[in-house]
Amino acid sequence: MLRSSLLFLSRLRWLRRWMETSPLADKFTKRFVAGHALDDAVAVSRRMNQERILVSLDHLGESVTSLKEAESSRDAYLSALDQIAALQLQATVSVKLTQLGLDLSEPECEKNIASLVERARQIGTLVEIDMEASLYVDRTLSLVSKMHARYGSVRAVIQAYLHRSEGDITSLCKERIPVRLCKGAYREHAGVAFPRKRDADHNYVRLMLQLLDQGVHPAIATHDERILRQVVGRVKKIDLAADLFEFQMLYGVRRDLQRLLVEQGFRLRLYVPYGDAWYPYFMRRLAERPANVLFLLRNLVKS
Ligand code: FDA
Repeated sequence: MLRSSLLFLSRLRWLRRWMETSPLADKFTKRFVAGHALDDAVAVSRRMNQERILVSLDHLGESVTSLKEAESSRDAYLSALDQIAALQLQATVSVKLTQLGLDLSEPECEKNIASLVERARQIGTLVEIDMEASLYVDRTLSLVSKMHARYGSVRAVIQAYLHRSEGDITSLCKERIPVRLCKGAYREHAGVAFPRKRDADHNYVRLMLQLLDQGVHPAIATHDERILRQVVGRVKKIDLAADLFEFQMLYGVRRDLQRLLVEQGFRLRLYVPYGDAWYPYFMRRLAERPANVLFLLRNLVKS
């Protein structure tokens, strides 16, 4: 109930506009969002890198309404890639294709993503292409394949709650495209996704085993302790070297587990969001864990 209400609120444009310009915003977003500017994300990245944690920079924003906005998003990512190169950060970037104009013009979106992937290849890093709601999956995977064939330097994202994901992973592994496996954060109907969380979690474990066996540098993105234990058990059993896969988590989520993985010598990458358009991202994080709403309320009371 709380989860659906939060997801509903995340789609209200007027509330989003009001929240994103509220002077109170920083008080409650700082736990999950690095800040408004690229400099804030760079500062977090340097701190994380010093702690032996890799990062993926996410310039917040999705579903732009003009091609001009899509170009500004592309430019924001080009600046992030320039900073990664100049400061030699251990960092990739994570991008949503709707942010680069997928809803407006597929050819323009392709040009935008191509310029990012080309730049990533020049500086020896990756563009991780986030997965959005299910209606985007085919178009997203098709662009991922094209970019991989042209430049390499991309990682795809697969959501374990979708029924189709096993087939998608099989194809991506055949093409030797690295995959990030996550549970899935959007509201989907039973025709495309497992309605019960238990079933989606069970599917996550199956897909994780498939990826560890067949994948190229798989990224296991979850904070689920039970699954993390199974991953550790599996990589020991198949003797998968620690530099051939990585764990991924969200900035600000389960910092205790993050420390533990790094202490145990595993590669960990944190997804570090920054920018003004923090509202939909932040609401998805609240919806994932109702306890976060209490955290938010406590900060509001303190302010
Ligand atoms: P689950 O939701 O079952 O949570 C397991 C435990 O983790 C909880 O019991 C709690 O302890 C902790 N936890 C989880 N979320 C928390 C939160 N917000 N605050 C505090 N504690 C929390 N999704 C998508 O659809 N497309 C994408 O491209 C991506 N990309 C992506 C990258 C990375 C690096 C991560 C980690 C996640 C994504 N996701 C995503 C989001 C993902 O689909 C999912 O919504 C969240 O990771 C939460 O799922 P968990 O796997 O953590 O499990």
